[in-house]
Amino acid sequence: MEVIIQDTPEDCARIGASIIASTLRRKAHAVLGLATGSTPLVLYREMIRLHAAGELDFSMATSFNLDEYIGLAPDHPCSYRYFMEENLFKHINIRPERTHVPDGNAVDVDAACKAYELSIRSVGGIDIQVLGIGTDGHIAFNEPVSSLGSRTRIKTLHEDTREDNARFFDSMDEVPTHCITMGVGTIMECRQLLLFAFGKAKAEIIARAVEGPITAMVPASALQLHQDVKIILDTAAARKLEHGDYFRHVYENKPEWQRH
Ligand code: PGA
Repeated sequence: MEVIIQDTPEDCARIGASIIASTLRRKAHAVLGLATGSTPLVLYREMIRLHAAGELDFSMATSFNLDEYIGLAPDHPCSYRYFMEENLFKHINIRPERTHVPDGNAVDVDAACKAYELSIRSVGGIDIQVLGIGTDGHIAFNEPVSSLGSRTRIKTLHEDTREDNARFFDSMDEVPTHCITMGVGTIMECRQLLLFAFGKAKAEIIARAVEGPITAMVPASALQLHQDVKIILDTAAARKLEHGDYFRHVYENKPEWQRH
């Protein structure tokens, strides 16, 4: 794992966008794994800025999102499809038919989950996946005790997650109870992972995920087994890491060409 600690979320976003840009420059038809939530917004703003500056071309790229609420139509303002359209897709030149978000309105949810896995496989797998982390240690919507080998499937949301996400809805009653999410196993097969966390509310869970034992109680801890993962943190989210000084030392001493 490479832990990169920066002063601000904007500094983290610049690093993340530059890694994504170099992936797309190397492989124009790269498959991007995308995430929703507050955390990736600053990254998407930077990606949009690079695109507007002519430095990031998505014309050949494909994307897969991690998850979607069950029961929300794609045009519902709280659906993750809507989030992606508003916060990224409509500002860049990715082709709409190459963007994928699980179908929260599928009649046969199990079949939709299997089809999602197959469609990831049919384009050769995900090259680079963006991740946030929940305060309970979830990645995507893999809540505690999710199998670390799980695949795309239906999950019941933890009440803590529903409460965390209630801020996007008019009332708690409107927050869906279920979702479709890529599994931890699906995420572990992505070639490269970038996990972002900002703010002091994430400090405790980041320390557990990065420095604690690998356990299904903290699904993000499974990333310790991935060979190409960068954990990109602002100072507040990094403050409970026991080895923070070491992580800073490693990053500062990397040659420039190796940084991203
Ligand atoms: P947040 O959510 O970015 O809104 O904090 C992260 C997550 O739940 O994965």
